[in-house]
This record gives sequence, structure tokens and C-alpha cells, in this order.
Amino acid sequence: MAKIKVVYGSVGGNTELVCEKAQEVLEKAGNSVELLEARLADPVYAADADLLILACPTYGIGELEHFFEIFLGKLAAVDLKGKKCAIIGLGDPKYDKDYHLESARIIMEFLQKKEAKILHMPLRISKNPMVLIPTGFVDRWAEKINELMK
Ligand SMILES: Cc1cc2nc3c(=O)[nH]c(=O)nc-3n(C[C@H](O)[C@H](O)[C@H](O)COP(=O)(O)O)c2cc1C
Repeated sequence: MAKIKVVYGSVGGNTELVCEKAQEVLEKAGNSVELLEARLADPVYAADADLLILACPTYGIGELEHFFEIFLGKLAAVDLKGKKCAIIGLGDPKYDKDYHLESARIIMEFLQKKEAKILHMPLRISKNPMVLIPTGFVDRWAEKINELMK
């Protein structure tokens, strides 16, 4: 059983919803999954997992959600070399394409610099998750992550 921690920022609840769906799938596959709000998360505790999932929506002009950005700043001091990681990014196509879904790209760049082991392409959600979740889009990504983690 793998120990998975998911740190997320969410203002409107969409990212939280996607994380809860991924949690459900990964738990069903036999893992223990803990969701941690970035606002309250301790980076050292968060990084102590077999898999760390970082999840954040895009806000401002192609920026990270405020509390998640602060969390990532603190996580920069933690050794993530070789750490299994995965990324969930949310955005909305109504924003300029230069800023669309930037959160996933920013997290990816951060983890690459930290030499973390990024398991798979980020889960990029650019539609209302209430519409997307019933299609199985999040399930398929989480199932793939579960496979790649072994
Ligand atoms: C003020 C504001 C700024 C946003 N800026 C961007 C942006 O630059 N790029 C993008 O792709 N989405 C942007 N979004 C869309 C959000 O990322 C999207 O609605 C997301 O689902 C919100 O997640 P949350 O409910 O977890 O907070 C913005 C939304 C708001 C309200």
C-alpha cells in the first residue's frame, strides 16, 4: 500500500473536487491518500510520502493560487530529488492562451528543477470538473498514476 499525499490550493472548490475524485480512485486501488490544503500544509510533512501530488488552479494572469504559491516557496527548501510526483492543474480557456492552465506548467518547471520524478503528464482540467468528472477523465488519469507508481 503506497502512502500518497495531495497538496492543493482551491478558491472556488473545483481543484478540491478533482483531488477528491483522484483520492477516491487511488484509495480504491489500495493506497492511503491524504488531502492537505496548501494553506495549512507543512512542506516537510507533505513531502514524506511515496507519491506527492501537487494540485493548483491558475489565477491572476497565469499565476498560482495564492496559498499554494506560498506553499511551493516553502517546498523549495525540501529535498525532492527522485521523489515520485504528479501534477494537477486547472484553468479556463476563456483566459488568454498565453496564461491558460499556467499552473500545471509552473509546477512542472518547479519539480523539474528539484529533480523530482514526475510520473506522468499533468492532469490538466480546463472545463468545469462537475461536467468532466462523470466522463471518467480524472479516473483514467488516477488509474494511470496508480500503475506507474508500482
Ligand atoms: C480571477 C480569476 C483569474 C483566473 N485566471 C486564470 C488564468 O490566468 N488562466 C487560466 O487558465 N484560468 C484562470 N482562471 C480560471 C480558474 O483557474 C478556474 O476557474 C479553476 O477551475 C478555479 O479553481 P478553484 O475552484 O479550485 O479555485 C481564473 C479564474 C479567476 C476567478
